[in-house]
Amino acid sequence: MVIKEMSKMIEEFANNVDAGLSQSEKTLPSKYFYDEKGDALFIEIMAMPEYYLTRCEMEIFSTQTRALIESFQADKNVYFELIELGAGDGSKTRKLLEALSQEGYQFDYMPVDISKNALDQLEQSLQQSLPQVSVLPKHGDYFDMLGSVKDSHHPKIVLFLGSNIGNMTDAIASEFLYQLGANLSKNDKLLLGTDLIKSADIVLPAYNDESGITHAFNMNLLHRMNVELGATFDLNGFEHAPEYCEQEGIAKSFLLSNCVQSVEIEATGKTYHFEVGEKIHTETSRKYSDEIISDLLLKTDFLVAAKFTDKNNYYADYLLHRN
Ligand code: AVI
Repeated sequence: MVIKEMSKMIEEFANNVDAGLSQSEKTLPSKYFYDEKGDALFIEIMAMPEYYLTRCEMEIFSTQTRALIESFQADKNVYFELIELGAGDGSKTRKLLEALSQEGYQFDYMPVDISKNALDQLEQSLQQSLPQVSVLPKHGDYFDMLGSVKDSHHPKIVLFLGSNIGNMTDAIASEFLYQLGANLSKNDKLLLGTDLIKSADIVLPAYNDESGITHAFNMNLLHRMNVELGATFDLNGFEHAPEYCEQEGIAKSFLLSNCVQSVEIEATGKTYHFEVGEKIHTETSRKYSDEIISDLLLKTDFLVAAKFTDKNNYYADYLLHRN
């Protein structure tokens, strides 16, 4: 069964890669960053001096823990599910888990992540550091998990942190929030972490750090295709090329071909051509404002009930109430 599942995953990976590289403006889905090496690089990214996002959200979680918990309006006598979409290493959530369990709330923590490796590590480290918290990990894509959310009738608090939503286009994000709301019940909550729009001199270095970790993170996608799909990408033939448009508030990462080249991919049975300067769009990292958030929520059943920001106003966690 494991082998069958693996080959299905490879087939899907190959189909996604072929669809992206066959377009006139080449693109690859950013979810494929997160293999074992990508997970480790992302943990390094979160600790980089330039990557302010994690520190800002940590600051909110450690200095406003009480206010965050109050905003959940949870009843200590009623069990609830604390679901975290894209939990990663769960570093931001620890403070909250600690406080909730100390204060005697009754809940299960259900981290959902596309990376089985990240989930296994998270479960192990929580077992050691917070053995009193019950952890029920779920492996999968957030979209695939939506349906299973409504299987239980317990109250739910969903955490979608780290500005992970920013890796979706606005159209997909708004559809995702609509579907999430449709799968939740009245009075359930969503805590949505978002990076706020700010100037390029702050945002761009977060995606183009001096030590080259983000470069390695982007390049790992090519390495992964070489290993898993039998591709012939020459890693020296591409450069990490991030961009940020302050007006739109959108950062984009690209892999830029520095020569004319052709790459064969065994798993798709095709050859892909690249011109000098031709780019593969590998990631979108959207930044937000109150207006953009309310536009995203227009068609959903969520209302903004509270907003928590860091001292620099770089980052916001919006507490959304399901009507
Ligand atoms: C996971 N996600 C919110 C990160 C971001 O900021 O878009 C991924 C990342 N890519 C490069 N650096 C960090």
